[in-house]
Amino acid sequence: MKLITAFLILFSNLSLAQITTQETYRRGQMIYNEFCVRCHRPDGGGIKGIFPPLAKADYLKNIKETIRSIAFGLKGPIVVNGVNYDNSMAPMGLDDQEVADVTNYILNSWGNQHDEEITIKDVQMLNSDKP
Ligand code: HEC
Repeated sequence: MKLITAFLILFSNLSLAQITTQETYRRGQMIYNEFCVRCHRPDGGGIKGIFPPLAKADYLKNIKETIRSIAFGLKGPIVVNGVNYDNSMAPMGLDDQEVADVTNYILNSWGNQHDEEITIKDVQMLNSDKP
């Protein structure tokens, strides 16, 4: 049992290390600091009731909605971690690769962890949903 636990911890740390050392994560960090940080804040905590958090945000469990909101913007009532938001985020004009990069960054920062890398294909698949 101890061995299994140790293995699981090692494995999860390895997969985290992989994404956070990849180019996509580093590019995503630069995009975050340029485009997102003023609202979602350096710690990803947002501003309660105005700008929703990204750190430990339950919203991010829905990967498709997360990518869609970054690519096309988001408007209207949502609930993030039990707090209501009814604001709007304009689309930022990022290209598909940039959307993938910043998604990888937010999914693996501030204690967030998502083992699978988001690729440009995941973003392109949603382009037909464009409003
Ligand atoms: C001008 C302020 C602003 C900027 C800049 C901004 N956002 Fe947002 N973001 C918001 C607001 C406001 C909402 C909630 C919109 C609503 O109420 O429907 C939101 C919602 C979100 C959500 C879904 C809700 C959540 O908290 O999980 C994600 C994901 C997100 N933003 C990511 C980003 C990323 C990534 C960037 C940079 C590429 C970015 N945002 C830039 C204001 C901003």
